[in-house]
Amino acid sequence: MCGIVGYIGYNDSKEILLKGLEKLEYRGYDSAGIAVINNDGVQIFKEKGRIADLREAVDPKVEAQTGIGHTRWATHGVPSRTNSHPHQSASERFTLVHNGVIENYDILKREYLQNVEMKSETDTEVIVQLVELFANEGLQVEDAFRKTLTLLHGSYALALIDEQDKETIYVAKNKSPLLVGLGFGFNVVASDAMAMLQVTDKYVELMDKEMVIVKKEEVTIKNLDGEVINREPYTAELDASDIEKGTYPHYMLKEIDEQPAVMRKIIQNYQDENGELEIDSDIVTAMNDADRIYIIAAGTSYHAGLVGKQFIERMAQIPVEVHISSEFGYNMPLLSKKPLFIFISQSGETADSRQVLVQVKEMGHKSLTITNVPGSTLSREADHTMLLYAGPEIAVASTKAYTAQLAVLAILAEVTAKSRAMEVPFNLVQELGIVANAMEVLRDSKEDFEMIAHEYLSTTRNCFFIGRGIDFYVGLEGALKLKEISYIQAEGFAGGELKHGTIALIEEGTPVIALATQKFVNLSIRGNVKEVVARGANPCIISMDGLNMEDDRFVIPEVHELLTPLISVVPVQLISYYAALHRDCDVDKPRNLAKSVTVE
Ligand code: F6R
Repeated sequence: MCGIVGYIGYNDSKEILLKGLEKLEYRGYDSAGIAVINNDGVQIFKEKGRIADLREAVDPKVEAQTGIGHTRWATHGVPSRTNSHPHQSASERFTLVHNGVIENYDILKREYLQNVEMKSETDTEVIVQLVELFANEGLQVEDAFRKTLTLLHGSYALALIDEQDKETIYVAKNKSPLLVGLGFGFNVVASDAMAMLQVTDKYVELMDKEMVIVKKEEVTIKNLDGEVINREPYTAELDASDIEKGTYPHYMLKEIDEQPAVMRKIIQNYQDENGELEIDSDIVTAMNDADRIYIIAAGTSYHAGLVGKQFIERMAQIPVEVHISSEFGYNMPLLSKKPLFIFISQSGETADSRQVLVQVKEMGHKSLTITNVPGSTLSREADHTMLLYAGPEIAVASTKAYTAQLAVLAILAEVTAKSRAMEVPFNLVQELGIVANAMEVLRDSKEDFEMIAHEYLSTTRNCFFIGRGIDFYVGLEGALKLKEISYIQAEGFAGGELKHGTIALIEEGTPVIALATQKFVNLSIRGNVKEVVARGANPCIISMDGLNMEDDRFVIPEVHELLTPLISVVPVQLISYYAALHRDCDVDKPRNLAKSVTVE
């Protein structure tokens, strides 16, 4: 979702801003812009579409050592050049970029800005107009900025420049992520560290309702009462090569291929010196103290949560509920007496999940975040964190983060079970090693999945994924993967549920991808396949070695039946990838989607 960059230093800022925005492309956006300031004043370049279009539009002759940039994912107002950021105040003195949503923008407009003609349909414009209003009333810019912040309801990450002062960027944050990066003779602003890794790996975290005065040689953080806050910087442990595509045509394919290595990295990171799995003992205590676990997540992470419930219930025998975060906050179920909340989030920034975390913290409940991003909002704000160690995931469609979430949930379940002296059905270290090897076999079978995608999905309008038990949850993930990148209407169904209505949609040739990795339902899922075949469906059965039957389209290597989602998801990831490729879709940046969903 929207991304912000800013640079103030001694070098020309244009290229640094554009490169930063390119690194933020993965978050999803529909327009982009930069504003730079030099002795000739402020110059704005913005375009609907890709950063490549913006690059074309930027005048290479303009040199400026201070600038801000933005990728926009439309919320208020259609994607257009006019609505894209940066936005300017009426006199064009102030220029602003903003992530987030200002909920009371209409009220503020009516109350303070009746005489100001708005140029865009955005909520953002209200902010920059208010700063100008208060500056015109005689406030210093810093005070005008602060006064504006105190009036805003909603989420924001902001960077503001003043045409009369090219030595300062004013920055503020509430709910939306924002970091300040430190350099020698320059400082930067970025929605995430990846964007500015090109110039620095030292960052300072910002907390909600803080503002920052960023100059070339100095960064001052203040709260909204104007008090200075001292905070130590940290080093972002990211390798610049982790965020390059290398020889791969797409990040998604690279990230699918990285899954075996991610499994091994997770094992390493959660092993003690004796090779036993180990997690923070406070987390084990929190698990054991809980009478019920509530998993809160969205999208793919929610699908990982559904599998995680099986791991925790079957191994550690603690009851688990799994909830979609955007629903939970407004429709909270009756909670148990001693709940533990587990937030699963690749980005650690999902606003829907965060609003639940804020609520349950207020209620005094304990929380654990499982995330790929150390220092992310959900990680900082929860009591405990378990990291995924998957490395940066750039493709919008989540792949390696999903399998990493499953592996970490399995570890959490196993270690908890052992602490409760419960019998665990396997040696998880060994089993995850088998999973990594099996993933490698699938990685080397790409032609098969390309063929399946071509055969089943090149012309279809829709597709069904069916499974029973744990396979059903992988079917949900398969359908999400396929629809988000290939735009084929896809649904995941419990095999037995289809006949209760949805089977009406099966026509001659409708592809039905069936997963058969569970012994106890092997015959019944095959019965469900027969039901759809009798109505004309084109079935594609993906089974597990040992359960396979004649005519199965692909047989995945055998792994422990509780861990099959880690393996059976790989074929559906690859089939979705090739289906999108055949349809000429933008695999890594599907339309309308954002990687880091920072609005509710
Ligand atoms: C789909 C996908 C999304 C995310 C969802 C939650 O491929 O990536 O469904 O899973 O937006 O994001 P996180 O995990 O960052 O909270």
